[in-house]
Amino acid sequence: MKSQTLGVCYYPEHWPPSRWAEDAAMMKALGLTFVRIGEFSWSRLEPAPGVYEFDWLLRAIDVLHAAGLKIVLGTPTATPPKWLVDKMPDMLALDAQGRPRAFGSRRHYCFSHEGYARECDRIVERLAKAFGSHPAVAAWQTDNEFGCHDTVESYSDAAREAFRKWCAAKYGAVDALNKAWGNVFWSMEVQSFDEIELPNLTVTEANPSHLLDFQRFSSDQVAAFNRRQTEIIRRHSQGRDILHNFMGAFFAFDHYALSKDLDVAAWDSYPLGFLERSPNDEAFKLRYMRVGDPDFQAFHHDLYRACGNGRWQVMEQQPGAVNWAPWNPAPAKGAVRLWTFEAFAAGAETVSYFRWRQAPFAQEQMHEGLLLPNSEPNAAYDEVAQVSKELAALGARVETARAPIALIFDYESAWAWRLEPQGENFSYPELVFAYYRALRRAGLSIDLVPPTAEAIADRKLILAPALFAPSRAFVDALAASGATTLIGPRAGSKTADFQIAPDLPPGVLGDLLDIRVQRVESLRPGAEIAIGDDGAFERWREFVQTGANASIELSSIDGAAALTRRGDAFYLAGWPDEALLKNVLRRALAAADIPVLDLPEDIRVRDNGTMRYLFNYGPDATDISALVGDAKLLLGDRLIEACGVAAFNVAPGS
Ligand code: GAL
Repeated sequence: MKSQTLGVCYYPEHWPPSRWAEDAAMMKALGLTFVRIGEFSWSRLEPAPGVYEFDWLLRAIDVLHAAGLKIVLGTPTATPPKWLVDKMPDMLALDAQGRPRAFGSRRHYCFSHEGYARECDRIVERLAKAFGSHPAVAAWQTDNEFGCHDTVESYSDAAREAFRKWCAAKYGAVDALNKAWGNVFWSMEVQSFDEIELPNLTVTEANPSHLLDFQRFSSDQVAAFNRRQTEIIRRHSQGRDILHNFMGAFFAFDHYALSKDLDVAAWDSYPLGFLERSPNDEAFKLRYMRVGDPDFQAFHHDLYRACGNGRWQVMEQQPGAVNWAPWNPAPAKGAVRLWTFEAFAAGAETVSYFRWRQAPFAQEQMHEGLLLPNSEPNAAYDEVAQVSKELAALGARVETARAPIALIFDYESAWAWRLEPQGENFSYPELVFAYYRALRRAGLSIDLVPPTAEAIADRKLILAPALFAPSRAFVDALAASGATTLIGPRAGSKTADFQIAPDLPPGVLGDLLDIRVQRVESLRPGAEIAIGDDGAFERWREFVQTGANASIELSSIDGAAALTRRGDAFYLAGWPDEALLKNVLRRALAAADIPVLDLPEDIRVRDNGTMRYLFNYGPDATDISALVGDAKLLLGDRLIEACGVAAFNVAPGS
């Protein structure tokens, strides 16, 4: 098993070379192992077309190497330099209004522009050849945060051409496309693939089938763009890991699909910024403003662990106030350490902080780092030093045990329900996250997984809320899994073409559940459908007809089936409020024979192999004796302080 390590993001090009050796020595003394560099440095690597200046980068790598540090080298393709944009202005992405995403920040490129892709091939190949076998280069990062600043979709000519080809490859004959999209509606039929337009600037909403295919296409373009880089790097830098740094609360491309070309999935974790940007209410935001949402980070750790097939890390961990949220508070004392251990508890290989030193210039000058702009240690510095000692003392290692609970997270479902919410607040990520939070509050460790047979094998409980258009193979695997399943609302309600499932929802899931959904309604904020004393539906509810083999477990006070059951398969016919979700999950967990823990409100639990971690996201010290039992604490106290972390080995079988 791999040791768990720390790292940092560093920009040697922002600082005088005379400073590098001291920085490197400090990083080493702090206990860091990895340094990520290079990902925005194109204008310094190639200041003019074909003029390569790699010496400074080599020197920086050598200095870091000499201090005993390992390098994650970023490809600089998120920031094409000015000369390149001037050379091919049509490489810029166009937004949905047809306006160019102009030079002057970053990510100003269209994923479909072949000319730009070739420029990327060229610079990546040069870098891979120059540094691919350098002994300090341990890993590569492709680009930076694909899709950040809303850049997955582009409405350029290049995108339109590529989309037409994509449609032709998918459908073969244009009639098949017309049929799949239902283009007879509103005379939208086309006679050839060359007539297909992008789904922007339409008078009212575009056809959801068209929109969904455009999203699939855009997602494929991101994966293809990434793949060009990974293929080049693998040719010239054997034995090095390739990763990409994904984002939080970002679902615009299929991260599982892209990750097939990576060795490791990474993500960038900014708990306070994400909380400020989240849909939580004001009271919740105030309560957690300095520690972040107790479940948000863990959700992404689990999601990206699935993307990386068990291998994942945090590439950018917030170490102080950021600059990009509506409000940017400072983390509570201990929060940076808490976040770091939460990642390690979920099996992270590395947690790397963003950034080493706060930059006094340009867009992110208000974004804190481990050092102040004058190089004095900032508030989190000592916390990182402490974590590094604790990791060594714990002998912390990556474990990859499969959790008994699999919660499906499906990118197509996220797209589909964004395109056709039917009720303004029907958000797929929010629904899956509500399930996740409720399970975690019951003290459970969860795997978030794609809807594939492999991912649901060997589970006790499988949950599939709002799974858009499951494949027949997946439904067969679900039926044969022997696990308890909790499905719905909206699951199976459409075909992959984005049409209502034949023979009514839940379509291919109908036999497993022995129900039919006849009608649905969405509910405005404040409207609720009470389910006896068990809670209520909000946002969404369905009218379900049960067959002879399905029983009604819960009903609404207006007499409709709310929770049905056939054997081990449950169907929930609405969006549950917190109380209802808790009750329904307790039933499903009991059916699956999974014990739950009664946790104090702000305490969370995560198992990494036999090591159990407890976290306190609340403002008060809390007694966790009942959760620790007789175990010997390896970290923390039975009275766990605010932002505290405790860890102990769980006896086998308990
Ligand atoms: C990330 C990005 C970094 C930096 C950081 C600031 O989204 O990858 O380059 O901008 O945010 O929090």
